[in-house]
Amino acid sequence: MTSDPVRLGVAGLGRAFMLMVPSFDADTRVKLTAAAAPREESRDAFEKEYGGTGYATVEELCADPDVEAIYIATPHQMHVDHVLAAARAGKHILVEKPLAVSMEDAEVMVSAAKEAGVHLIVGPSHSFDPPVELATQLISSGKFGQLRMIQAFNYTDFLYRPRRPEELRTEEGGGVLFSQAIHQIDVVRRLAGGMAEKIYAMTGAWDPKRPTEGAFTALMNFAGGCVANMTYSGYAHFDSDIWMNNVGELGQRKSEGAYGGARRALLDLNPDDEVRLKTTRTFGSGTTIEAEHNEHFGPVIALCDRADLRLTPDGIEVFGDTERGFIEAKFGPAPRRTVLDALVDAVRHNKAPDQTGEWGLASLEVCHAILQSAETGQAVDLQRQCKTNH
Ligand SMILES: NC(=O)c1ccc[n+]([C@@H]2O[C@H](COP(=O)([O-])OP(=O)(O)OC[C@H]3O[C@@H](n4cnc5c(N)ncnc54)[C@H](O)[C@@H]3O)[C@@H](O)[C@H]2O)c1
Repeated sequence: MTSDPVRLGVAGLGRAFMLMVPSFDADTRVKLTAAAAPREESRDAFEKEYGGTGYATVEELCADPDVEAIYIATPHQMHVDHVLAAARAGKHILVEKPLAVSMEDAEVMVSAAKEAGVHLIVGPSHSFDPPVELATQLISSGKFGQLRMIQAFNYTDFLYRPRRPEELRTEEGGGVLFSQAIHQIDVVRRLAGGMAEKIYAMTGAWDPKRPTEGAFTALMNFAGGCVANMTYSGYAHFDSDIWMNNVGELGQRKSEGAYGGARRALLDLNPDDEVRLKTTRTFGSGTTIEAEHNEHFGPVIALCDRADLRLTPDGIEVFGDTERGFIEAKFGPAPRRTVLDALVDAVRHNKAPDQTGEWGLASLEVCHAILQSAETGQAVDLQRQCKTNH
């Protein structure tokens, strides 16, 4: 055990927390000290597993003097109240993506953290994945010349995973923009240095039974000249993990028998059954995923003047002028080690990561710009972008 672990409180013991559990369990730099959850079953499961205190409300969690930082993993639309409560209590904050649903909320959250003098980190997102971190370093080193173009592509069954009703209503943050595009935007912005300028996009809402945007494609350019093409479908039958060496988003090996599983599980379910199915994936009910590789968010290729870089779950394939090579991105000991690196650096060493509140706000601006561009048919100028820290 590290002598002075960061004492972390968790707000929301749902799916997102479950995905962080293997990393918390493997990393002695962070100690789970308390949690807030409305369901008694989740609070009991937390206390049994971690021995901390389970509170019924986030406000009580924020008042716990033993908690130094709070990981907010509640639904998108609650992030604003929970971030404000944590900031008021002087706690450092790790908040799940997206930072918020509206830009107004995001602005208030960034200001509140600044005024309180606490770190606000937005994550995990796939911009924390070690191969993205490695590619960012390689690109910014200038070793391969100027970055010219990025292709980011992901075909998944996202829309057919079990959902709460509001996860299928765009105005409440539902659909693929706020939950999925945000990953791709974070990845692409990190590789290209953050300062996106303009975006032109089209979206698709193709299933009346799940009436929200389930797909989009967008072209975005950056200061310095790089252009990025981001394409996502959450309606996919083709699974682009095939092009990621059959490794799933969470670093797990994909089995052939899993094909069609999301749609199969939803057959004949009514919305109440679906919400119940979702809670079987949460803390106290669900099982954690065994990762063997780094996480990823679909195929990403970055074209530089002297090499093209393909991100894989294990590292970067470098296609140079006359030679090919591979640079490994270290996996583990915890799948989301880099998120905890950021948290520990912020709380213990006052060092902010790339993915600050301002960063999360800039990525959220891009989500809204995709919706706006799709609606108006016009390109949208981006006004709230920020640079990476390096
Ligand atoms: N980074 C990732 O890989 C990832 C994956 C999934 C979800 N997320 C994000 O995490 C957030 C939650 O999504 P989810 O899929 O885990 O949803 P979920 O419904 O599985 O979990 C949300 C949890 O918050 C709890 N909750 C609701 N109101 C609360 C309150 N007032 N106080 C404390 N807890 C409360 C619920 O009981 C539930 O357990 C979203 O913002 C989502 O974008 C991120």
